[in-house]
Amino acid sequence: MSRKEKKKQVAAIKGTKDILPLEARKWQQVETLIKAYCERYGYREIRTPVFESTELFQKGTGETSDIVMKEMYSFVDKGGRSLTLRPEYTPSIVRAIIEHRLYLQPQPMRYYYIGPMFRYDKPQKGRYRQFHQLDIEVFGEKDAAVDAEIVEMASGLLSQLKVKGTDILVNSVGCRKCRPGYHKELRHQAELARDSLCSDCQRKMSTNPLRIFDCKEESCREISQGFPKITDFLCRECDEHFKNFRSYLDLYGLKHKVEPRLVRGLDYYTKTTFEIVSTELGAQDAILGGGRYDDMIKDFGGPDVCGIGFALGVERLLSLVPQKKEPENIVYLVCLGEEAKKEGMLLAQYLHKENIECLLEYKSRNLSKQMSRANKIGATWVLIIGEDEIKKKRFQLKNMASGEQKEVAREKALNIIRGNI
Ligand code: HAM
Repeated sequence: MSRKEKKKQVAAIKGTKDILPLEARKWQQVETLIKAYCERYGYREIRTPVFESTELFQKGTGETSDIVMKEMYSFVDKGGRSLTLRPEYTPSIVRAIIEHRLYLQPQPMRYYYIGPMFRYDKPQKGRYRQFHQLDIEVFGEKDAAVDAEIVEMASGLLSQLKVKGTDILVNSVGCRKCRPGYHKELRHQAELARDSLCSDCQRKMSTNPLRIFDCKEESCREISQGFPKITDFLCRECDEHFKNFRSYLDLYGLKHKVEPRLVRGLDYYTKTTFEIVSTELGAQDAILGGGRYDDMIKDFGGPDVCGIGFALGVERLLSLVPQKKEPENIVYLVCLGEEAKKEGMLLAQYLHKENIECLLEYKSRNLSKQMSRANKIGATWVLIIGEDEIKKKRFQLKNMASGEQKEVAREKALNIIRGNI
């Protein structure tokens, strides 16, 4: 190994990032709020493994999706199995439902999860290779009112977190009955414009022409504006579902825009698709996206149970949420000498058992150095332990905001710290 190589630091992988303590606090606040919010709507947490068989996503997310074609972190393990770090959560939940026959349980099938997902896409602002999603899914509810309820839920969550400047985009991508007719017409129109489309779109014409709408090339986007709209090809059932969905959104007072290009990058959608976008996010403007997928469970060999859900990008959300300053109660123990340190260790043990956050200084520093450290870490209280204090079993308790100091026994100190006195 050359000297230069030795010196080179090991860095985080491109497209991943560390969440350092200050930022992690914000994550915790938002995650706690989200979890309580989901539970209020009847959702329960479901945790599945980070990696699954590659086949699950090939079948679930779909062979013609960008995710499966280009973005999966797949590897062969030592047993020769092809595994993939989950790029999204929906197929994992579907697998778990079938495997554990959750559909037989007499509870509403509403699940949520917050955790990391992995996609090998080009990193940029708001797009990472390891990112986090809040995913929610509802099963067994055909009524378009549920489609509207989850959009209301998503929108309400953003309001609670004080996210402003968002738009709700909706569409219907039809079903297996009406989509083939639309595909035929779309293919025909795309064929006429073949020479002006990029090579990727030319390929999509034969695999899945809907994917042409996902193309990021400006010229392809412009051309596809003129292509037929799926909403003009919906069968009666899908058309009625879409109309009902929109009327329920109106009932909630949720302004929304029909975006016929919103086919979403995953292959499984049927009927409703939606996204909530923000003008504050730049090119990666979707805070969340989702839709209905009525065939996935059946396609995996399970019963005929429909599904609908959405996933929200936590990094994107957090970039729009201001950090909330929460009141903290931190006690810093200043110990003067070896005996005081031992007394401090016991005092810290006592306070920890009483659920008080408390830190002990182990380096032998003088009083003023320890006080300035207490200040730096933002301690709200300081307990000073010296020889006198050990003998008397009473300690100097200082309120760092007011500067007030009192000599108290540990029980009284606890009451004062808790704000009971
Ligand atoms: P998706 O649109 O692929 O849908 O992802 C949902 C959200 O995850 C996006 O709107 C975005 O906020 C975030 N996201 C996606 N990729 C990245 C990335 N590379 N970096 C940062 N954030 C990202 C799904 O994943 C579906 N499973 C949603 C769903 C659930 N449909 C039905 N149920």
